Parts: sequence; C-alpha cells; structure tokens
Amino acid sequence: MDNFTKPKVLVGKKADLMSRLADEVEMGIRMRAAENRGFVLGLATGSTPIPLYQELVRRHREEGLSFQNVITFNLDEYEGLAPDHPKSYHAYMEKHLFGQVDVRLERTFLPPGNYEDENRAAQYYEAKIREFGGIDLQILGIGRDGHIGFNEPGSGRETRTRRVALAEVTREDAASGFGGIENVPTHAMTMGVATILEARRIILIATGEGKREVVQEAINGMVNSAVPATFLQDHSNTAWYLDAAAAG
Ligand code: GLP
Repeated sequence: MDNFTKPKVLVGKKADLMSRLADEVEMGIRMRAAENRGFVLGLATGSTPIPLYQELVRRHREEGLSFQNVITFNLDEYEGLAPDHPKSYHAYMEKHLFGQVDVRLERTFLPPGNYEDENRAAQYYEAKIREFGGIDLQILGIGRDGHIGFNEPGSGRETRTRRVALAEVTREDAASGFGGIENVPTHAMTMGVATILEARRIILIATGEGKREVVQEAINGMVNSAVPATFLQDHSNTAWYLDAAAAG
C-alpha cells in the first residue's frame, strides 16, 4: 500500500493486533541485533498497550527474544511522582516490561516526574533521544480528547518535550486509578508533537468503543492542534491498529 495516500489502518481482533505489533517490534530488534546495533523503541503507557507488553514478555520467556540491544524512550510522566510511586509511569514500565525482560535498565528512559529546572530536564531528554540516533518505532495510544503522549488540545505541531498542564477529561479518565480526581497530578512532562513525528515509524493502537469518535476525528478530521493526533496524518509512516469497536 502507498504511504502517501491514506493513513494505513489495520482493523482486527485485539489479540491479533497486539501480536502483529509484537512482530514488528521483534523484527526491529532482531534486524538491528544482527547488525550489532541498538533498536530505539518509543513506548506508551495506559491500559491499551498492556497486552502488547504481555506478549513481548511471553516471547522473551518462551522464545528467547532478547532486549539487550533495545533502548527505550517513554512518551511522558506525571509531575510530582517519584519513580517508585505506584501510579508513576516509571513504575508501570517496571511492572509491565522492564522488570520482566533483559533490557539494560540504564538504557530505558522516561521523562522525569521531578525536576528543578523544567527546561533543562526537557532538553536533556531531547538530547538523549538524539544521542541514540532517534526513535525507530514509536508506539502510541490516544486520549479521549485526541492527545498523544500528554500533548493536550492546543499542542502545536512544533512542540517538543516540555512541561504541560493536563486537560480535565484526561484527569477524569485517570481518577479511578488514583482514587479520586483530587489525587491526579495537574501537570506532566511529555515528548512534544514534533518529537513524536520525528520517529521513523509510528503505530497508534486504539481499542474499545470509547475511542471510536476521537479515532474517526484523528484520521479523517482537519489537521489542527485542537486534536493533536490529527498531526499523524502528516507522517508518512504511521499505521493505525484498531479493534472493531474503536474503528466503528
Ligand atoms: C494517558 C497516556 C497516553 C495514553 C492515554 C490513553 O493519557 N499519557 O499516552 O495514550 O492515557 O490511555 P488508555 O490506553 O488507558 O486509554
């Protein structure tokens, strides 16, 4: 299929999508390992990618898939949460992936939840991504308001890693996990839209009916910062992996 016409959309059963996605990750890892090079993987959090991580862990345990040559960069982190806070994305990654595979922990990166100087912290993160040659494959989820990472509505195409305020709907969606909206952080550090669009390949996964409307808008709507996921329309190597409920 031609990359320059319509966004590539793959609709299938959740388990099949996750296994296709795991295939892509595995292929990237193995191809680079054969050349003695690192594979730079951009990671997302939320409930959507959990089955992907489970499948990758299974392949590591049962099929010997090694993560020794993998470098990871996560999209975002809540402000004010220490890495060992149970709701931090640091803890999420440790639980769902890093603690269960042989990835070299010193090569797993997430934006910091705590920092003295937000600009320096953001620039450091961007510099790290560059140092490893950029992101080969970025896994993305999507928020109900069309955010990618924590790039909330209003985030422009040129935005880079920075501190952001979380939208009300995003905090509402996170409330149950935090035991009430009052406990949900108000800010986060996220990769920017431009940072994300620099990845050589992007796969956005969306599952469930709750994502149907925003997915429709993101794929077919006018490209603009009111729905930051629409910027993916301008990326020539993005695929959308949707289950039937999200595809509508
Ligand atoms: C959070 C994350 C996003 C994620 C979104 C959707 O806002 N920062 O990266 O895509 O949640 O989460 P879920 O997959 O749980 O619907």
